[in-house]
Amino acid sequence: MTQNRKIILKQRPQGEPKVSDFELVEEALPELKEDEVLLKVEHLSIDAFIRTMLDARDDSLHGSMEVGKEPVMALGIGRVVQSRSDALNQGDAVFGPMGAQTHVIWPAGMLRKLEESEEIPARSYLGVIGMTTGLTAYAGMLNCGKVQEGDTVVVSAAAGAVGSVACQLAKIAGGRVIGIAGGPDKCKFLKEEIGCDEAVDYKAGDVNGQLKALCPDGINVFFDNVGGDILDAALDNLAQFARVVICGAISQYNDMEHVTGPRLYLRIPERNASMIGFTVDKHAEQFPKMEADIAGWIKSGQLKLPEQIEEGIDNFPEAIVKLMTGGHKGKLLLAP
Ligand SMILES: NC(=O)c1ccc[n+]([C@@H]2O[C@H](COP(=O)([O-])OP(=O)(O)OC[C@H]3O[C@@H](n4cnc5c(N)ncnc54)[C@H](OP(=O)(O)O)[C@@H]3O)[C@@H](O)[C@H]2O)c1
Repeated sequence: MTQNRKIILKQRPQGEPKVSDFELVEEALPELKEDEVLLKVEHLSIDAFIRTMLDARDDSLHGSMEVGKEPVMALGIGRVVQSRSDALNQGDAVFGPMGAQTHVIWPAGMLRKLEESEEIPARSYLGVIGMTTGLTAYAGMLNCGKVQEGDTVVVSAAAGAVGSVACQLAKIAGGRVIGIAGGPDKCKFLKEEIGCDEAVDYKAGDVNGQLKALCPDGINVFFDNVGGDILDAALDNLAQFARVVICGAISQYNDMEHVTGPRLYLRIPERNASMIGFTVDKHAEQFPKMEADIAGWIKSGQLKLPEQIEEGIDNFPEAIVKLMTGGHKGKLLLAP
């Protein structure tokens, strides 16, 4: 019998999540039924949407988790250790809703079998080529933002997972790219490792003034992961016919009852601009093309995503805190 270690929600976070909001629980897993597989979870994707599921809200986009029961929701990569399905064999790598735990049993039909290679290992399907990271950046920057050669492109939370890929896709499309991130170390990372032309440190203050100095002809595409004051600063600097892409608003997720709207939304009509939001799942029909393009750019050396891998399921709560407070660069993963 396999022993599973899982992280459950002990209490709903009040504002910023704390390690003490979560609890580690051990359990024995049952025997496999027909068509089921037992997986050892290899990597978990630490994603911003997990925070939004910790609140008790009926209108939450991804749903609301129960307290004290199921493992905290997380997408991940698992390795088949035992199979009662013809579709999957021992040793296969799969993508699916692993949950914050060391092992899980799923019907094989719930899982996607992955092709693994040296250039694109299984965990890349959580990062550079993963739905909540690389494909999200692609859907937002290329499908919605429609970056053109010579555009000035600004990306917020640029040193994070989605942001790092979004910056590089804008470069590939011929844009001049400015990343916004917190602190000099992340700004150095943006310029030296991600290939941004310029970087703005929002923690140094006056984001509006910094953008004005770096974008004298205005911003053509703003890819927003943050919302709040950073969105307003970008709106104030839009060029005529700019596109604003709302990917997310992480500055708002700790208090979704009091979301701060854009104060300067009148810059949209004044600049003949447009604002578009998206969720990556609505681009699913294009996933095969998007994955093929990303794989091509990885192979040609035009696209990479540095990863920060935390170790041990006990550190899952700490990883959630890290994601929300910017304690990582690139893609944050956890190896349980
Ligand atoms: N539309 C979709 O379908 C879709 C899909 C997936 C993800 N998303 C969105 O994509 C965004 C990025 O998610 P991710 O998983 O890639 O996370 P991430 O960017 O790797 O991590 C979040 C980053 O946000 C920054 N941040 C946190 N609080 C902030 C604040 N108050 N002000 C400014 N920056 C703040 C932190 O960087 P600093 O150190 O720079 O502060 C942190 O590193 C999120 O908004 C998420 O909801 C959308």
